[in-house]
Amino acid sequence: MESVLALVPRPLKQECAEGFFECDGIPGISGDGSFAEETGVFSGQLSARYGAVSGSPPQIMCAKDGAIPAEGYRLRVAANRIDLAAADGDGMYNGLQTLRQLFLSGDTGDVFVKNPQTHFAIPCVEIEDAPRFPWRGFMLDCSRHFYQVSFIKKLIDALSLHHINRFHWHLTDDQGWRLPVPEYPLLAEKASKRRNPYRQEEIYDEGFYTEDEIREVVAFAAARHITVVPEVDLPGHTVAALAAYPELGCTGGPYQVEYRHGVFEDILCAGNDRIFDFVAAVFDSLSRLFPGKYVHIGGDEAPTARWETCPKCRQRMTELKLNEPRQLQRWLTRRFVQMLTERGKTAIGWDEVLEGMNDSECTALPDDMIVMYWRSWMDKKLIVDAAAAGRSLIMTPCDQGAYINFRQVEDPDGPGAAYRSTTLQNSYEIPLVYPEMTEEQAKRVLGGQGNLWAEVINSAMNAEYMIFPRLCALAEAFWSPAAGDFAGFKRRLQVHQRRIDSLGFVQCREDS
Ligand code: ACM
Ligand code: ZN
Repeated sequence: MESVLALVPRPLKQECAEGFFECDGIPGISGDGSFAEETGVFSGQLSARYGAVSGSPPQIMCAKDGAIPAEGYRLRVAANRIDLAAADGDGMYNGLQTLRQLFLSGDTGDVFVKNPQTHFAIPCVEIEDAPRFPWRGFMLDCSRHFYQVSFIKKLIDALSLHHINRFHWHLTDDQGWRLPVPEYPLLAEKASKRRNPYRQEEIYDEGFYTEDEIREVVAFAAARHITVVPEVDLPGHTVAALAAYPELGCTGGPYQVEYRHGVFEDILCAGNDRIFDFVAAVFDSLSRLFPGKYVHIGGDEAPTARWETCPKCRQRMTELKLNEPRQLQRWLTRRFVQMLTERGKTAIGWDEVLEGMNDSECTALPDDMIVMYWRSWMDKKLIVDAAAAGRSLIMTPCDQGAYINFRQVEDPDGPGAAYRSTTLQNSYEIPLVYPEMTEEQAKRVLGGQGNLWAEVINSAMNAEYMIFPRLCALAEAFWSPAAGDFAGFKRRLQVHQRRIDSLGFVQCREDS
């Protein structure tokens, strides 16, 4: 068997040597000052688990080395010291997380440990590491189930342990609106509450993040080198917003925050200019709260049924000389992207934004809009043509490993049992580049992402069970050029799952 440490994701290169770095308690860390924030977070992560960092003399030395690739690092563990080098804070943080994994191995009963609470023995090794893709994401649906900030922070910390660098926060959908928009107070009062369809007086799911909570999550993620990507789904999946502001829909309502699952025909009215005031206020909130470059504007599953019969929408089509209602979505998307560009943001949309004839200037999709591919059961032409036209892509192929709300094991009573299955191996083998793509087209792929939709995942505990260990498989696929050996991954996972246990997560265990 090859000699590799049980690290996930697997580093690009590693050379194991004889001996161990041994220490009692967490050793002190020193650096050239550039990486104080990263080492501070790392010390906090370990001391939360093992007690105070022992200070001097420092035995973990952090240094800058401009020759190391972006986000990459070099880690050398020798018998008497540990050296970490990186060109940037992202790389240093990633290196520290690999080191954190080695400290956590001891905690979870790895063979090297004498006294797991105080004594560590880290095997001597030299690692050189850098990512395969720059976009390594995870999406959590906080509309269908309102997840508490404490859970989101716990999850973000664990994502960063796996070098995931994007947290896609799905904040709005038919079943609940979670984003504060001061100009539209009924979003908080009405759109965030879902009623029991059988007992109208009862609310059975509700929740709304405050501005302070959102800032807390964003800062917590930033300290872990994760960019938060907020999503507001437009123009479909907006029934919750319509329930609060029915004048934004084609029929004028009344509407109710949806308790059912599915795709609904009531969406924003493309013929009503008031929707642009609404969207402008939403984008202002996003700009104020999320300093990151990216905003996801959804665009998936927007039926045109209402637009086909709505006089305002028909009038809009006539004015714009559009032949088919689907082009209205292209027109809206273009407007929304322009509004985000004015706010200095880059827009992302689900792959439906590519659809609809594009024979007019007013429906042309701006070149810098990024497309997130999810409908992997369809002909690949849509996505291959987009890559050929130079569009950047993020791969989240629904039925090829990315949707981890699908059940992982055959358990008729387990979470996700209502869906088809996505095994650990499916996630490990997620296709990030399709054989239909040329080398040049494949360069348009920024990376991949795992998604957890929450229609039937209605607690943090169930979410954890769905996320782990499939997230580990996805993280390795996104990060590691050395991915591809599923049997080797499963061997490393036996140690790695104990680390995840030690962070207090519920996990699915295939073999249990
Ligand atoms: C999606 O799963 N509707 C993007
Ligand atoms: Zn309309």
